[in-house]
Amino acid sequence: MQHLGKIITRPVLAALALAAVSAVAVHAEDAKPDPALANSLNPNDKSAEQDEKLLKKDAAVKVEDGKYFDAEGHPTFHVTDAGKKFDWYTYSGYRRYHAECHVCHGPDGMGSTYAPALKDSLKHLSYEEFIGILAGGKQEVNASEQKVMPAFGDNKNVMCYSDDLYVYLKARAAGAMGRIRPSEKEDKPEAAKKAEKECMGG
Ligand code: HEC
Repeated sequence: MQHLGKIITRPVLAALALAAVSAVAVHAEDAKPDPALANSLNPNDKSAEQDEKLLKKDAAVKVEDGKYFDAEGHPTFHVTDAGKKFDWYTYSGYRRYHAECHVCHGPDGMGSTYAPALKDSLKHLSYEEFIGILAGGKQEVNASEQKVMPAFGDNKNVMCYSDDLYVYLKARAAGAMGRIRPSEKEDKPEAAKKAEKECMGG
């Protein structure tokens, strides 16, 4: 039996994820990328290996209080200003990643000898899989070396920012963000301030 977070258990998270998805569910006919939301990437940024297929799949079709969503209703990144300016959540995810994850997964999601490159993992992991691993951890079975992804389900500094981490790593996976420290960002949305207060305080 895997350790379940004391604060946010997996079933609760799954329910939350589902609620979030249905709340922003996009009807198929509405799922065409909104030209106003089109990501404009800097074609000269060679530090990011841009994956056209992922950039298309992850394209924001909807924005709610500064939070962007893809056609499947999952959180996604949004880049403007010739690839230089990021939405708040992607920027926040960059900071959280380097505070909580980079010690094992390497700078900028590049991986280490101990843990996989998340910029590659997020090319195929779904939103639900990502949140599940983050909350419940992961351990290689039959591995000669014991490599363990800790369960962060009871760590608010991680779980209150799980969407931020997700969209940052999606941006890295699609090549929307290179190996840079993002300097330009959208203002922190009121919704983010409120959610943070509720999550960290509760
Ligand atoms: C103590 C070291 C450590 C820390 C800190 C850590 N991880 Fe991991 N993580 C691992 C290891 C090791 C694995 C591989 C486990 C396996 O494959 O069995 C892993 C696997 C993962 C996976 C699955 C990757 C895949 O390809 O299946 C995700 C997603 C992940 N980590 C996200 C994170 C995030 C986000 C953070 C920061 C909040 C984080 N990890 C912090 C060690 C760590």
